[in-house]
Amino acid sequence: MLPSLDKLIVEFDKGLRTLFAEASSRRPHPDVQTPDAELSEEEKKHAARLMRINHCGEICAQALYQGQALTARDPKNKEAFTEAAWQETEHLAWTAKRIDELGGHKSLLNPIWYTGSLAIGITAGLIGDKWNLGFLAETEHQVAKHLDEHMEKLPPQDQKSYAILDQMKTDELEHADQAIEHGAANLPLPVKAMMQLTSKVMTKSSYWI
Ligand SMILES: [Fe+2]
Ligand SMILES: [Fe+2]
Repeated sequence: MLPSLDKLIVEFDKGLRTLFAEASSRRPHPDVQTPDAELSEEEKKHAARLMRINHCGEICAQALYQGQALTARDPKNKEAFTEAAWQETEHLAWTAKRIDELGGHKSLLNPIWYTGSLAIGITAGLIGDKWNLGFLAETEHQVAKHLDEHMEKLPPQDQKSYAILDQMKTDELEHADQAIEHGAANLPLPVKAMMQLTSKVMTKSSYWI
């Protein structure tokens, strides 16, 4: 079932806000209690680049959740993911603020990754809810793995970025479980491999641009 025009307009507006407006957080930022540590210029640059990758990942997550909301056939599924989509907005807010604090900038490629992810989310949703949820679950698992890697790669004294990534990982794993509970299909291996390859390209490009 194709999404109606008014739904498309609402989601188009959400897309513009995802890309260009400041995201807000209902929960306190996870690093609010963590004191700032001394970081060299090189360390700051590196941490900002890692946070930029995570911010770009959150842009993609927004698009996937929007694709899910646009195409979900079962209204229960649509409602169930409203909270997860909210948490993704919070992740955007947390990573964006930390990038700023570290003196970095958001990826210039965000609109491209956003559009690609939205297309994937909608396409999968049009095939069926379980495929869209399958994409969500697999994405969340892959993101959680990336977050683990980034927590290891951060300068050890950058506990502020660490606290943010740690909370994001907890949230992402919950989102994956939720998608599975709602009937996510287990994606075929070649699709998973393709997603891993795409995320590698995203990771490498957002580190630099
Ligand atoms: Fe997220
Ligand atoms: Fe998530």
